[in-house]
Amino acid sequence: DSLFGAKDCLIEVNPGRVIMPPRYQDIGDRIRGLRVREDDVWVVSYPRTGSTWTQEMVWCIGNDLDFDRAKKLIQQFRTPRIELTALLDANEDDFAKELGDTVEMVENMASPRYIKSHLPWDLLPEEMAVVKPRVVYVARDPKDMCVSYYHHCRLIYNMKGSFEEFAELFLQDKAPVGPMWSHILGFWEKRHEPNILFLKYEDLKKDLPATIRRTARFLGKQLSEDGVLKLADYLSFHNMKNNPAVNLELVMAKRRSRDVAAEKPEDLAFIRKGEVGDWKNYMTDQLVAKFDAWTETNLAGTGLTFQE
Ligand code: A3P
Repeated sequence: DSLFGAKDCLIEVNPGRVIMPPRYQDIGDRIRGLRVREDDVWVVSYPRTGSTWTQEMVWCIGNDLDFDRAKKLIQQFRTPRIELTALLDANEDDFAKELGDTVEMVENMASPRYIKSHLPWDLLPEEMAVVKPRVVYVARDPKDMCVSYYHHCRLIYNMKGSFEEFAELFLQDKAPVGPMWSHILGFWEKRHEPNILFLKYEDLKKDLPATIRRTARFLGKQLSEDGVLKLADYLSFHNMKNNPAVNLELVMAKRRSRDVAAEKPEDLAFIRKGEVGDWKNYMTDQLVAKFDAWTETNLAGTGLTFQE
């Protein structure tokens, strides 16, 4: 689309008009064909829903709160996003070079593997449906997601254009990764399956210790109350923002050096603002009405709601 420069152009992938960077074509089939293990733990989400936050929570619970290792090893090496290799250019980025082929990385990881993806259910490994590894899915209020995604697309995809233009693209399912409701509902429909945990960003914000307890139960891990509180502190916005193992500054610093501009410098950080309701600072009443109607139509009869 014209908001995205030619160099960062995106392609549509079947099924469902999923929108990915062109290099995805080299790995899509390998991801679909990945051998899934029963003890894999996947964190899946649409972008900018708090997946990095959830991923860190899941990894720390699964690894008995090994904060030392968590801080020493960049998150992408502990819990790689399987399709990331398609988004980074090894010729441009030292981090990408070091990371190498993320599908291969996942194939070679020791069990239990912690894996992240923004791919919709239909593009994840076919074996997921039969092997049924644990999947933690996280969703977020679409208006907040859109604001967060706008800043992210400026930085990552060098997107030009105003917030209003991006919001239109988002409402038309044309933002990177593509249709959002089918992504979310694909997992919402599976939420009662014992290997699926469906979380919302707003719940992590409202009561992080409760969400940690719920996730630990799902992962079959015992946590002491002290452990829960220590993990909640480690996962606080301030601590995550200042943690080089999770804040992706290695990639962001490079992106900031391109021709990107933001009204506020903090908008050019991966861990940006961390608030519920930031959309109020961006959306006109008219746009809010459009978003709310879109949400109502797509969520009618599903039982899923997003609230502050
Ligand atoms: P904002 O841009 O609204 O700040 P993802 O990891 O899926 O890309 O999601 C990124 C969003 O999660 C960003 O939202 C980011 O700031 C927020 N986030 C990351 N860590 C957080 C934390 N510890 N507390 C609250 N929000 C967090």
